[in-house]
Amino acid sequence: MSTVDYAVQSSVAVLTVAYPPVNALSLAVRAGLGEGVARAIADPAVKAIVVIGSGTIFIAGADISEFGTPNSAAEPRLQTLQAQFEASPKPIVAAIHGTALGGGLELALTCHARVAVQSAKVGLPEVKLGLLPGAGGTIRLPRLTGVVVALEAITTGRHIGAVEANKLGIVDAIVFDLKADAIGYALKLAAEGTPPPVRDRNDKITGVDPKVFADFRARAGKKWRGQIAPARIVDVIEAATTRSFDDAKAFENEQFKALMESDQRKALIHYFFAEREARKIPDVPADIKPLPIRKVVVIGSGLMGGGIAMSFANAGIPVKLLDIDAEALARGMGVIRKTYETSLSRGSITQAQLDERFGRIEPVGGYDDLGDVDMAIEAVFEDMALKQKIFALLDKATPPHAILGTNTSSLDIDQIASATTRPDKVIGAHFFSPANVMKLLEAVRGSKTSAETIATVMALGKQIGKAPVLAGNCDGFIGNRMLQYYTVNAEYMLERGATPEQIDRVAEQFGMAMGPLAMRDLAGMAQAVNVRAVRKLTLPADERMPELVERMVEAGRIGQKSSAGFYRYDGRERLPDPAALDLIRAEAQRQGIEQRSFTDEEILARLFHPLVNEGAKELEEGIAIRASDIDVAWVNGYGFPVHTGGPMFWGEQIGLDKVLATARTLGAENGQTRWGPSRLLERLVAEGKGWKDAPALIAAGL
Ligand code: COA
Repeated sequence: MSTVDYAVQSSVAVLTVAYPPVNALSLAVRAGLGEGVARAIADPAVKAIVVIGSGTIFIAGADISEFGTPNSAAEPRLQTLQAQFEASPKPIVAAIHGTALGGGLELALTCHARVAVQSAKVGLPEVKLGLLPGAGGTIRLPRLTGVVVALEAITTGRHIGAVEANKLGIVDAIVFDLKADAIGYALKLAAEGTPPPVRDRNDKITGVDPKVFADFRARAGKKWRGQIAPARIVDVIEAATTRSFDDAKAFENEQFKALMESDQRKALIHYFFAEREARKIPDVPADIKPLPIRKVVVIGSGLMGGGIAMSFANAGIPVKLLDIDAEALARGMGVIRKTYETSLSRGSITQAQLDERFGRIEPVGGYDDLGDVDMAIEAVFEDMALKQKIFALLDKATPPHAILGTNTSSLDIDQIASATTRPDKVIGAHFFSPANVMKLLEAVRGSKTSAETIATVMALGKQIGKAPVLAGNCDGFIGNRMLQYYTVNAEYMLERGATPEQIDRVAEQFGMAMGPLAMRDLAGMAQAVNVRAVRKLTLPADERMPELVERMVEAGRIGQKSSAGFYRYDGRERLPDPAALDLIRAEAQRQGIEQRSFTDEEILARLFHPLVNEGAKELEEGIAIRASDIDVAWVNGYGFPVHTGGPMFWGEQIGLDKVLATARTLGAENGQTRWGPSRLLERLVAEGKGWKDAPALIAAGL
């Protein structure tokens, strides 16, 4: 079957794009649409044209897999097609369901009208790929919505629901029977005379005060944290208000091309495919069907349990929140209610949504009534005996088909599973705090976890809007196992003479929301002291754990809570504190460490190279399946800047040899056992290879 089907119905040519899975604008689709429009224009029996998508989507945009191939530049290019659409003497109506994104919406913006069903969404998400909409989106959208809306919509790339899009002027009408109503709409336009294309509607972009752009740059710029595309988008939207359509379009082209060549674009497209690849598990055949999850029970009504319950409720899945402590349960429900109320007051949800979501969470005080759940997720504190007790109870209380997940961030999944009669159905389901916000879901397979259980949790993760990644069972799994190298190393650098401000500034300029030391102050020192006390028990003989957090706690500097830690705090404002530096200096002296100065470059290397080295060890050990899975985990669970592609992609871009050199230095300084180079990394560098070659090397035994 052709990628664009042509049929005439009631004197209207209906062009149906049929290019699964998402009707992306591949060369074949563009050619099919061009031929269809030409044929409709030439056919005297046709009065108007409707463009519609088959399957679940209108058009998801440019075919990303075509980027960098000859097909992407081959005629008809999207812009050629758009010119043909705009010049059509017969009105063209875009009939939108599912999503119209990127080039899909840009094509719709060259139709003479857009109609959509209520559930449809539109958007220009190119910024998420390090790009700007290069087919006139930045020039045409403000002509419909005005610049304020366009600036926000295009720099965030958010999906806009059809009802809002209708109010904003992007969609002309909300319809019910998409094809039939679109045909009716097209015939109406044909009878009234084809309306002017969007490019000729200038009223919303004339006389715009330049201050609007300056204000927007000042206000929104902080959120961009090193991303280049958003600022370029603002420049082009501004040009749309000061230059002719064609001049602005030429500027958009130029900026688009520059972004297309950027490292950030490459990194973000790597990341786009990485997130999708992560859901595919090599030893879980694609034909294994995930179990339907219709109801869930979450055990533990603390912050974590509450956040997990909200994640399900937000996705439309009813959830029981179980706590045997009635007071804690009431408190937990109160926190959930309050969180929803804050979202309501910010306008991010409606009262109806609040009622609906909160109504899906049922507080329960015991294990008597769990016969209707398909999955349980335990989220109590990290105590093996307690978890085993809960799993034994769940094993009895839930139906035999139910999956039993644990939110542990470090404990052994097999040991937990051993408390049940169904270890094949036990899996780690590690959420990140706050669980209703953070996207990472680290699924952890035990030695007996079945393929069906894994498939179910990966599918469920997607269903509830998370980015699932599968990890092997080890201390810290994929993410936390790497984290310690980042945080501990920041302290080693302090001992050696770097300052908290310098380290945090380097991390934040790199794109982390908060540097490691400011983060430690926010989280509080006490928890770190406890974690380290446990870790010290298994520390290799060649390693010494820094003790700065211990010294801080002894001095009463427990972090933001005491207004003092690595910094001092005036309210929430963090300020450099000579007293903290004195304390660090004294500890360095006690350890006999000579202090020196660090360049920013050195700090960057010492902060982030060890992540890559440890990631390589995880690959060696089969804890992570692919380097790109590690990227997905770190972007979504730890705020690693997405525009770098994630730590592993970034490491490869800057050169694995550099990462190896840092591992050699840190191995000598901090202890070879844990800080020294990964064997995989050494082999890859020696042979001039990259992550894609890792599986073969590992399979051959390194
Ligand atoms: N070009 C090529 N392939 C695309 C694509 C695109 N624009 N958009 C999605 N795909 C592929 C995915 O890689 C995935 O392939 P796979 O099944 O082999 O892994 C498949 O289509 C389904 O995508 P997925 O994201 O898993 O489905 P979804 O239903 O959750 O989401 C979309 C659908 C369209 C919302 C989402 O894919 C998306 O946001 N796509 C990107 C849109 C975009 O950025 N367009 C502008 C391009 S410049």
